[in-house]
Amino acid sequence: MEEEREGKRPDASSTILSRLMNPSDANPLGIVHGGEILKMVDEAGGLAAMRHAGSAVVTVRLDSMTFLEPIYVGNLVIVKAMVNWVGRTSMEVGIRVEAEDPMTGKRVHTNSAYAVYVALDEEGHPRPVPRLIIETEEERRRWEAAEERQRIRLAQAQRRRSGK
Ligand SMILES: CC(C)(COP(=O)(O)OP(=O)(O)OC[C@H]1O[C@@H](n2cnc3c(N)ncnc32)[C@H](O)[C@@H]1OP(=O)(O)O)[C@@H](O)C(=O)NCCC(=O)NCCS
Repeated sequence: MEEEREGKRPDASSTILSRLMNPSDANPLGIVHGGEILKMVDEAGGLAAMRHAGSAVVTVRLDSMTFLEPIYVGNLVIVKAMVNWVGRTSMEVGIRVEAEDPMTGKRVHTNSAYAVYVALDEEGHPRPVPRLIIETEEERRRWEAAEERQRIRLAQAQRRRSGK
């Protein structure tokens, strides 16, 4: 029998991280390394998932990410993460990255990414997460798109396992 699971709204776990980019984050041209942004993306996504699950989580999948605009030393990087979809123990989080020039206030959208996290119990085994309470059209649209992406990820993982 499917266990009763409490529900949580996406807003309850949405997360924003921001950090000023320093020379140590960048190449000699002052352009920030992609790896620094990836780390912030995974941190923000992981925090949103942790807040939703109310437990530790691990990243099981980070979808491919395209860098649309360069980010420079002196920019403030703002990473916003929100849970789009939940399965039984897994959650898809949508993550949006923006870079702000603090002197002009101009912000550009530099990347978006999707990541899947799995909630873990104290023994490190997957544990059920709260349901996601969907109320708006926008949330429903995100849920349906995320559900389709997760279907494709699992099919890819299955193909990899069977060596096809
Ligand atoms: C994440 C992990 C615990 C899952 O273990 P597992 O034995 O595959 O567990 P399950 O088969 O029960 O899958 C757990 C959930 O992950 C989902 N999942 C598994 N592989 C996946 C993949 N490639 N893509 C997306 N979701 C995946 C499953 O669909 C399931 O979700 P559901 O419960 O909502 O249906 C295990 O793969 C792991 O520990 N990986 C290493 C994680 C890690 O070190 N990350 C980097 C540091 S945080």
